[in-house]
Amino acid sequence: MRHEAQVALIKRIFDCMDRGEPPMVESMAVNPIAAYGSEEQFRLERERLFDTRPRLVGFSCQLREPGDYLVDDLSGTSVLVVRGRDGELRAFLNYCRHRGARLAQGCGRARTFACVYHGWSYDDAGRLVGLPDAYGFPGLDRSERGLRGLPVAEKHGMVWVAPRVDAPFDVDAYLGPLGPELALYRLEDYHYYESRHLEYKMNWKIAVDTFGESYHFKTLHPNTVGPILHHNLSFFEPFGPHHRKTFVRKTIETLRDKPESEWDLIPQAANVYVLFPGDVLTIQNDHVDVFRIRPGDRVGECKMVMDFYIPEPADTDSAHRHWKNNVDLLMATVETEDFPTGESIQEGVASSGGGDFVYGRFEPALAHFHEQVRLAIGAA
Ligand code: FES
Ligand SMILES: [Fe+2]
Repeated sequence: MRHEAQVALIKRIFDCMDRGEPPMVESMAVNPIAAYGSEEQFRLERERLFDTRPRLVGFSCQLREPGDYLVDDLSGTSVLVVRGRDGELRAFLNYCRHRGARLAQGCGRARTFACVYHGWSYDDAGRLVGLPDAYGFPGLDRSERGLRGLPVAEKHGMVWVAPRVDAPFDVDAYLGPLGPELALYRLEDYHYYESRHLEYKMNWKIAVDTFGESYHFKTLHPNTVGPILHHNLSFFEPFGPHHRKTFVRKTIETLRDKPESEWDLIPQAANVYVLFPGDVLTIQNDHVDVFRIRPGDRVGECKMVMDFYIPEPADTDSAHRHWKNNVDLLMATVETEDFPTGESIQEGVASSGGGDFVYGRFEPALAHFHEQVRLAIGAA
């Protein structure tokens, strides 16, 4: 966020604090409960939201060196992303060209990728380089049996892959006005710490909703993030279909005694960006965490990965303890508080018999997000 924008926002924050009222939009909004339980909507969301937009698979720091690779299994089709010896980043469908077995797993550094089934192997540019008992394949043109490529792009320290070989793929167009703001965080300088894989029995949109308001901090998080962040004081800014939500740390008071030229909002806030539809990136005072949220196999299920990034490599025991405590606090908040509550919401969806959920005047991010979903699936 640019400094002028930070100063303007800090002034709004102090103004709201002094008046004892959160920022509010004109009116409440409603969302049909069926949005979380309709099989038809679920099908359209997968087809029109997730299968058309660039997919975030990680940060550049995970793929810095030649041979660095990661596998993304979140969206039904496994994708392998590799940094080649020539420095190029490439993405492939992660399936062997002999008879289709899945090739690589997890992440790491490798020169070649060997298939577990019959041992065909591929190099870091996807070329077929090893073919055991080749006499059984006379005349087979190896150059036609390389891994199938997918468009991939690195922008602002993040790595995006096209959802399909033939999908339109333009990350700048996708991010729109959010791109220049994300660039300011210099995410390319961060270091990867760890990831957690999660699956819950709730619609993917309930997981996104979790990050959309601070109205629940006092009640749901009295002992985790509640003591750190202001209750029901958060600021919403749309960027096309995406949005930013700023949650305010209680330490913001320390800025009152400083000149505006020294005001820095970042250490005093958690800036949450929802990259529509399902990537939730949070710029914290000292680290960045990302929840990549995807639909599960059924309307009432979702999958996600939490990726945690830090400003310096954690190469001492005390650094590890520090970051482990950070990850544990984050995961305790979502795994014991937010997401179990989300599952309880999903439980009631099927039996709701219609009706709607209501978003208060201080919950505009939820209204915006669901409106964007309806627009994208053609249901607005
Ligand atoms: S399927 Fe991979 S080597 Fe046969
Ligand atoms: Fe929460």
